[in-house]
Amino acid sequence: MASGRRGSSWTSVVAMTMVVVVASSVPGARGQLRMGFYAQSCPGVERMVGDFVRQHVRRVPTVAAALLRLHFHDCFVRGCDASVLLNSTAGSVAEKDAPPNLTLRGFDFVDRVKTLVEEACPGVVSCADVLALAARDAVAAIGGPSWRVPTGRRDGTVSSMQEALDEIPKPTMSFKELTDMFASKGLGVRDLVWLSGAHTIGIAHCSSFADRLYGYPGAGAGNDTTDPSLDAAYAVNLRRRKCRAPNGGYAEDAIVEMDPGSHLSFDLGYYRALLKHRCLLRSDAALLSDAAARADVESVVAGPEEVFFQLFARSMATLGAVQVKTGAEGEVRRNCAVVNSPSN
Ligand code: HEM
Repeated sequence: MASGRRGSSWTSVVAMTMVVVVASSVPGARGQLRMGFYAQSCPGVERMVGDFVRQHVRRVPTVAAALLRLHFHDCFVRGCDASVLLNSTAGSVAEKDAPPNLTLRGFDFVDRVKTLVEEACPGVVSCADVLALAARDAVAAIGGPSWRVPTGRRDGTVSSMQEALDEIPKPTMSFKELTDMFASKGLGVRDLVWLSGAHTIGIAHCSSFADRLYGYPGAGAGNDTTDPSLDAAYAVNLRRRKCRAPNGGYAEDAIVEMDPGSHLSFDLGYYRALLKHRCLLRSDAALLSDAAARADVESVVAGPEEVFFQLFARSMATLGAVQVKTGAEGEVRRNCAVVNSPSN
């Protein structure tokens, strides 16, 4: 009976994949972004970015997780406009200094790609496009899916810590809070389910999930009470080993693999771990609190990896088009960390 149910939901995931492939060919779905936007103005830029990324990811594969998360955090605040890359100024504290962004990595890597691109085509290719292309190419370079990245994004000139605080999803959020937040960006429930699959790569600091390990509300008395939705043996391992400071206390800066055992490979490991209640974040566990989302997770785990890849790729293409600035909006920043003209 179990296999029959899995079989039928598996069929629905295949059908869903076919629907998304058809939907992705609808013209106009990406606003004014278009494939090959730089074909005349900077021919070869996509190859240049891809070659650089592949060469570095081969040596330092953790770059892929850094770029993917950077792109996500960029798109969720003011759209994919590279506002996450801007430095704070005397007058304003930028997104990158907001608590949820303090663990972002890869800023220096994006700067290196941008410098290369600027040498070839000064003032032409936006930082937002560089980041979108580099994230895509880095994920593909570690054996993950690839997706179409239409280009023509313009860079924003405003970056606000408060907006990052308000708009970046928190790891403590419930399913409803997460879906509401995704909906506010034009992303659906299934985008949440498939994009959370990004947690198949990368790391988290113990501070990001400590609330589940120590004194979890409602889990009983004492400071060693854990979130009951976390596998008990896994919780003990996290508390006694992974997040334990040398002096025996809790090491908030210690890092743990998001997908234990395969955090460098883009695969179904995250969803498998999720079904075993071995995911680090409460927002990961929240996916199982919704019957339909749980069924989606179960069906994707039952199928070939390729189905997950297609669904993830489709949702990434949607994410990469969130509230983009195009045409005469914004600017093409020369240095991703500062606006071209401080008076902007
Ligand atoms: C659904 C809401 C989400 C929440 C609440 C969330 C939260 C987090 C947190 C707290 C971390 C650990 C940060 C640290 O401690 O260093 C993390 C890591 C990560 N997240 Fe998410 N995330 C979400 C969705 C996404 C999405 C949609 C993507 C990309 C499409 C993504 C990609 C990543 C990656 C790749 C890492 C590992 C980063 C690294 O290795 O440095 N996340 N996320």
